[in-house]
Amino acid sequence: MSLPPGPRLPRLAQAAVVTAAPYAWMAKRRERYGDVFSSHFPFFGRVVYVADPALVKEVFTGDPQTFHAGEANATVLGDALGDNSLLTLDEGRHMSQRKLLLPPFHGGAVRRYAEVMADATEREVAGWPVGRAFALRPHMQAITLEVILRAVFGVRDGARMDLFRERIPRLGNLSSVLDWLPVMQRDLGGLTPAARFRKAVAAVDELIYAEIAERRAIGDAADRDDVLTLLLSARHEDGSPMSDIELRDELMTLLTAGHETTATGLSWAFERLLRTPAVMERTLDSLDDDDYLDAVVKETLRLRPVIVDVARKLTRETEVAGWTLPAGTLVLPAIAAIHMRPDLYPSPKEFRPERFLSEGAESYAWIPFGGGVRRCIGASFAQVEMRIVLREVLRRVRLRADSQRPERPQIRHVTVVPARGCRVVVEERLASPREAERLATVG
Ligand code: HEM
Repeated sequence: MSLPPGPRLPRLAQAAVVTAAPYAWMAKRRERYGDVFSSHFPFFGRVVYVADPALVKEVFTGDPQTFHAGEANATVLGDALGDNSLLTLDEGRHMSQRKLLLPPFHGGAVRRYAEVMADATEREVAGWPVGRAFALRPHMQAITLEVILRAVFGVRDGARMDLFRERIPRLGNLSSVLDWLPVMQRDLGGLTPAARFRKAVAAVDELIYAEIAERRAIGDAADRDDVLTLLLSARHEDGSPMSDIELRDELMTLLTAGHETTATGLSWAFERLLRTPAVMERTLDSLDDDDYLDAVVKETLRLRPVIVDVARKLTRETEVAGWTLPAGTLVLPAIAAIHMRPDLYPSPKEFRPERFLSEGAESYAWIPFGGGVRRCIGASFAQVEMRIVLREVLRRVRLRADSQRPERPQIRHVTVVPARGCRVVVEERLASPREAERLATVG
């Protein structure tokens, strides 16, 4: 069976090129081979990319029984998420979990978390050093972790919060591309990364189950609006509540999908703003303007998409983009290539939030959150959080990049991060808005 055109490099060499320059690799493949191209990778085998909005629509709206996202995600995300994870399920079971999880993540619903997001940012920024270069990304991770723990898990107990903060980063530090090697999946007396990873997962599970048990026992739903509270009262179609295991799997899924991704998106927003003075200036003048900040967020996710592609695994022989592809093929909307098309985004390499002010992006042309029945359920949550964190940081500190050289995009597990973690220097602290208000009243 013939496949769309693509590079002939050996699999490992291709994987190395993608890892070293993920955005450029994908955009160049499209320039060279057109809107449909194929590739071969270790572990994943044959994959076919589509890089045209109409073809992406075909994939995103394809029959979920044929286009399996869950199966494709499970290859990369491993088994830490459990058997009920929205990310790794398909078809009927996926839809029934999705219906339970969607309501707390609707655009209107997530606005209630604005204060938690602003407070977490204020506390984090207060500890930043002045005049000394440091990587911003770990601080963005601290903020997004705190927000998930408070807004999604609803943790209030200080001691448990500290334990979560201590144990969760170990999950991220232990997962790497090497974990996909079969030998790494074995235990070998607790020595392999996989064994240590399982231990780290168990340590977080213990805290999640403790939180669930306590909340069921206290029954203080009336006084709370976090996501776990809403899930505790959600009902399956047959009227049954979610089990502890289901709740654990979905909380772990929301944590995995929502914490590093948002922190990375924020790091790229600062990385680009600090190297595009005119845009930074307009942003500083527009801190009260939600529309402009939203445009900055959208343009960041266009130019530096945190996830470069999303996958669907074909369960049967299927025609996609005019090609008959065999069962088992991974079909991937090429997010990074579409976002760099000059016909959709003139001067695509320029960071220009204004392009999102006048008109919205054509659907299926702006797809940092994927699409169809698998579209990211945290898209509104992430965009509101990015807008609030940008505003609260820029109100409090004047930043500069420690070097004007753009940071290289680098693959870290499934996300693309700025290679140096977005290194910045705080030039000065600004009077905080509350402080400024107080001074104005006193004066
Ligand atoms: C900038 C931040 C984020 C980015 C770039 C992002 C991106 C994505 C992408 C590309 C997908 C796959 C969509 C597809 O296969 O078509 C996805 C799925 C998902 N995301 Fe996000 N995400 C972000 C933040 C969040 C947040 C904050 C949460 C929740 C707290 C979240 C929860 C999920 C879940 C549960 C799924 C699986 C949906 C399903 O399969 O039905 N994400 N995300």
